[in-house]
Amino acid sequence: MSNPLRVLPGSTIGILGGGQLGRMMAMAAREMGYRIRVLDPDAGCASRYVVDEQKTARFDDVEAAVDLASRCDVVTLEIESVSTSVLEELAKTLPVRPGAAALHVIQDRIRQREFLQTAGLPVGDFRTAFSASELHEALTALGGQCFVKAASGGYDGRAQFRTELASDAMAAWSALVGPAAKDGRLLVEKAVRIDQEISVLVARSASGEVAVYPPALNHHIERILAWSTIPAPISASLAAQAEEIARQCVQGLALEGLLCVELFVERGHLLVNELAPRPHNSYHASSIACQTSQFEQGVRAICNLPLGSTEATRPAAIANLLGELWLAGPPRFDYALELPGVRLHLYGKNEARRGRKMGHISASADTAEGATELVKQALARLTSPA
Ligand SMILES: Nc1ncnc2c1ncn2[C@@H]1O[C@H](COP(=O)(O)OP(=O)(O)OP(=O)(O)O)[C@@H](O)[C@H]1O
Ligand SMILES: [Mg+2]
Repeated sequence: MSNPLRVLPGSTIGILGGGQLGRMMAMAAREMGYRIRVLDPDAGCASRYVVDEQKTARFDDVEAAVDLASRCDVVTLEIESVSTSVLEELAKTLPVRPGAAALHVIQDRIRQREFLQTAGLPVGDFRTAFSASELHEALTALGGQCFVKAASGGYDGRAQFRTELASDAMAAWSALVGPAAKDGRLLVEKAVRIDQEISVLVARSASGEVAVYPPALNHHIERILAWSTIPAPISASLAAQAEEIARQCVQGLALEGLLCVELFVERGHLLVNELAPRPHNSYHASSIACQTSQFEQGVRAICNLPLGSTEATRPAAIANLLGELWLAGPPRFDYALELPGVRLHLYGKNEARRGRKMGHISASADTAEGATELVKQALARLTSPA
């Protein structure tokens, strides 16, 4: 019997967002025989050369999104700053996965925290603040050492302010309440003494099938992901707890598509940091570590195909290539690729800027530690050939 929720290969997928995540999703979709149309405000976005159509428009341009969707069979997103009114409008005529309800919760850090807390999932101490004096009170209550985050609009550690003392309230308020947090809604988190950072990717299809990946181990430098390894070399019990949290999150949100749950490990206990309703940087290694890459899994989930196996067959790691690597001329990819098992992934971005994710290096090895070591060695070779 045909399944009305199913979008078969040969159909067209619309992606809101044409950054590297959209690009890699488009490449996986194309391999499976789909056509892809992308909407992005930047005409030179990373997806432009790998899609059938790239429409240049803002993420709150309902008319442009409706026009693009008129040539699609299903619509998804690769960035959470897409306006929910766009998703609501599109959902009148075609499946939109994930939908407006899940995005509404996730795209706002305060609503996201409240969802996690209500679901009984572990989160660190936090307060909300809607004025400078509330921020001062929150910092005082939490002990001064905090991460103050704009409720919406941040990524890669942007729209955040690290405080040491309650008296930093005014500086944090002026830094964040402006373009980053126009409405002055802030989430104030007590700084967690992080032992490890991990993430868990979970896919849920429109018919409710759920597949959870083994956790990834993530290392951040200056709040940007530097490298990531699958499977995380952590205890089986911690991995099982993290996977159960991810399952509860995706089911609690009834999210269709991919959800990545970022977690902190603090003295053996898990705390959820944040959620992302899309492919995630920490699962780029899934293409070589797992039976099914995150991008193929995302396509299967939004098209309501059977989900692929998430089994990790060989440890693998990635290291991000940030724009600063290009400062002294083109990185020496040729030297990095001399290392056996090392692969290069560039996103086709036309301008290298400090902190901008330009690509990544991946490698597999017999152990998670070995794979991590290999990508670090490859990274070092880019700027100082061995
Ligand atoms: N409460 C906290 N305690 C300790 N470290 C934190 C806290 N919040 C954030 N960090 C650090 O900053 C990093 C980035 O924070 P967060 O994930 O909130 O930001 P983001 O801008 O959404 O990042 P991304 O979109 O790249 O995941 C975390 O991975 C962690 O290393
Ligand atoms: Mg994060």
